[in-house]
Amino acid sequence: MNATLIRNVNGRKVWDSRGRPTVEVEVSLDSGVRGRAIAPAGASTGSGEAVDLRDGGKAFGGYGVGRAIAAVNGEIAAELNGADASNQPACDRLLIDLDGTPDKGRLGGNALIATSMAIAHAAAAAAGQPLWRYLGGDENAILPLPEIQIFGGGAHAGRRVDIQDFMVIATGAADFAQALDWTAEVYLAAGALMERNGRLAGVADEGGYWPVFDGNEQALEFLVRAIEDAGYTPGKDVSISLDVAASEFGRGGRYRLARDERDVDSDGLCEMLMGWLERYPIVSIEDPLAEDDPDGLIAFTRTAGMRVQIIGDDYLVTNAGRVAAAARDGACNAVLVKPNQAGTLTETRAALDAAVAAGWGAVVSARSGETEDVTIVHLAVGWGARQLKVGSFARSERMAKWNEALRIGEALLSQGRLPPASAFPWGQV
Ligand code: PGA
Ligand code: ZN
Repeated sequence: MNATLIRNVNGRKVWDSRGRPTVEVEVSLDSGVRGRAIAPAGASTGSGEAVDLRDGGKAFGGYGVGRAIAAVNGEIAAELNGADASNQPACDRLLIDLDGTPDKGRLGGNALIATSMAIAHAAAAAAGQPLWRYLGGDENAILPLPEIQIFGGGAHAGRRVDIQDFMVIATGAADFAQALDWTAEVYLAAGALMERNGRLAGVADEGGYWPVFDGNEQALEFLVRAIEDAGYTPGKDVSISLDVAASEFGRGGRYRLARDERDVDSDGLCEMLMGWLERYPIVSIEDPLAEDDPDGLIAFTRTAGMRVQIIGDDYLVTNAGRVAAAARDGACNAVLVKPNQAGTLTETRAALDAAVAAGWGAVVSARSGETEDVTIVHLAVGWGARQLKVGSFARSERMAKWNEALRIGEALLSQGRLPPASAFPWGQV
């Protein structure tokens, strides 16, 4: 018996934070040890992502995963039988070749990523270690700097405002637990501020407040006030981070800011964002231009890339080749790392490695459709990604991740230390 050989792969339908079906996979090894993982799901997806296999039709709005589960229990289980779970690249290669399509649409990115992550969990369990330690060892592990949503928007809030995520980064916090403490106070203050102004209307998909604002910029004004109301200095203790998710409202170099009743071209959007950088303590901007506007991304990076982090999400879709090419072109200076955009852990890791090789930042990220699965927290720590984005500070699919990071912090030699300031050089005062 070889303890790490895969003996059984079992897929089942479970449910995500939007009440949609998703894929859970449980991998059992010869030794009886098991690993389990659940696929997340995006709503503002990049066109170059691995695609989920959904059933279509009437049931569950077409989001059924019957075919993806059948792929796990049929072809995937047969292919992986006897493979060595401790050799993740070899297992992932089997999955990629078995699917055989560039977008993983035959077996489904959802089926593949849940399987790939479950294999890693099984291998870690066989080694008797938590996944983060199995991946990265103990010595250099530090917790990632958290990026946490306060207001939702875009595709996660019925397009109530155009900008998708208004987030904070506790740039002045001494450790991870303090970053969460401060963010909790800002989240609380933001809720009270919304209520006082008659704008409290529940929360969006990722737990940030539903954005009852008159325009996009008003969200920034409220966010600065919330930071101040909570007793912190904006830009010093707590800074602002945006995910513009511009692919959702722009195409062919034209952008429709519906909430502001404004149409702008690529230059106009750059100019608007530069104005925000002047007026607000913003340290990070994701997808400032659409995925089909590389010239705009290059121009924006040339103008703003020395003073803020510019993250590519839809444009880079966790793809090592795209990261390397963008680094050569000077588009963006950081990558968002979403395992289900790539489809396997090996490809996800390659995208992160490409970012590190380019001297870029990297942010491991959840999706807007999530579950209790906390794999990404282990990846961020084990792979040394240094930043983590999982949505807001409410809803248990989000809090499960923050809480897991607190537990990992306790187990670390470095006790939950954040990365050194040099690892996040933006907005230092
Ligand atoms: P998604 O959005 O998970 O809905 O695709 C998250 C993001 O754009 O970062
Ligand atoms: Zn994004």
